[in-house]
Amino acid sequence: MAEKSWEKRLSGEPDKLMVDFVESLSFDQRLYKYDIVGSIAHAQMLSEQKLITKEEFRQIKDGLIEISEEIAAGHFRFEKKYEDIHMAVEAALIEKTGSAGKKLHTGRSRNDQVATDVRLWMRDEIECVQSKITLLQKELVKLAENYADNIMPGYTHLQRAQPVSIGSYLLSFVERLERDFFRLKNCKILLNVSPLGSGALAGSTLPLDRKKTAELLGFSDITYNSIDAVSDRDFCAEFIFDCSLIASHLSGLAEDLILYSSSEFGFVSVDDVYCTSSSMMPQKRNLDVAELIRGKTGRVYGSLTAMLAILKGQPSGYNRDMQEDKIHIFNAADTIEACLDISRGIISNMKFNVTDIEAGLNEGFLDATAFAEYLVKKSVPFREAHGIVGTLVAKCEKEKRKLSELGLDELKQTCLAIEQDVYDNLGASNVANGYITEGAAGPKQAKRQIEYWTKQLEKR
Ligand code: ARG
Repeated sequence: MAEKSWEKRLSGEPDKLMVDFVESLSFDQRLYKYDIVGSIAHAQMLSEQKLITKEEFRQIKDGLIEISEEIAAGHFRFEKKYEDIHMAVEAALIEKTGSAGKKLHTGRSRNDQVATDVRLWMRDEIECVQSKITLLQKELVKLAENYADNIMPGYTHLQRAQPVSIGSYLLSFVERLERDFFRLKNCKILLNVSPLGSGALAGSTLPLDRKKTAELLGFSDITYNSIDAVSDRDFCAEFIFDCSLIASHLSGLAEDLILYSSSEFGFVSVDDVYCTSSSMMPQKRNLDVAELIRGKTGRVYGSLTAMLAILKGQPSGYNRDMQEDKIHIFNAADTIEACLDISRGIISNMKFNVTDIEAGLNEGFLDATAFAEYLVKKSVPFREAHGIVGTLVAKCEKEKRKLSELGLDELKQTCLAIEQDVYDNLGASNVANGYITEGAAGPKQAKRQIEYWTKQLEKR
């Protein structure tokens, strides 16, 4: 005999190994609220379409609410024989309500049901991730405000390149996170359509009002091809991709913090509450937490690869492969939420060691490019200016001097166009304060951007 009371097709007990293998209840139970909300909407529509009576709808609704409360209170018995949350809830409803419960699945398949539940879950999850992005952005802007006037070395190839405002450096992550925010917003727009009523793959001969359930569930529209509606989870891959880019951005921030907090750099101090020690070396104060943000990126990328592999080459129509989607969307969501929270914690407890940074600012010829641009302003062609400054840098390196320490006569020996005002253009601070292009990394631009972001993020 089959395990589920309504199944008559199969004979004999299912194999125990196979029951464990096919079940998803152990992980899809976290969809229960969405499953129940979806079922109530479906039942309401069935009653409005006279496919069930009002009384049956009332019994179904009350029963489902009771089940939801039992699950929330931890009193519900999840039995693997029901395979997934959809059948577990339905079986419990039938036990409570008898024939009313048996009508709930009218005109519905688990295929359109699960596609609906996952979309409902993801819609909420996206909002949750978005709010965590905003909180982190706000912390970054706050920190940027404290350090807009302070200059640090900017790097390319991890070699000192040009001076930048610490504020601009921090705001660079706000920009990235903003794109992450919008990617998620877009993902939500695409997924927010109702597959309910698509049935197993071909729709139904019953007069289901698909627009009604879509409206009840807050979807912006319905899907318009029942085969596609049950056989693609492209939105799951997209969601995980969006999470992957967030992970990538956070891992870059984490990497910077690991480097900048090392004694080799000494740029930032992270509060002790975010540091770990060593079991052996008594002096250690490690930023393991940032290393883990970097490391956990692997989990999210892993889920993206897995999700893409799950989707690849499936024959049209629903296939059970898709049940595996949940493992990966949940993994990506949980990981990214934790990484966003902890990144915010670190940022809100972090200080830049501005005195130490300033003391080392004039190492590494951060002013060389601005020097070349000074020569351009004196009508020297840029390629010549590049060569002139390159020669001066080589000389300084040999003599262990800085560009600003060369006398005007020495400078003039290399290029007659150089005048006394060159000194206003040398030194990291002069350079950073001299940036005039829109979006440059100087204190002036940083302050304008901080104003913009403060207003922008307040609106969220
Ligand atoms: N639990 C499945 C999933 O997550 C839904 C079940 C559909 N199963 C079926 N045999 N048609 O995709």
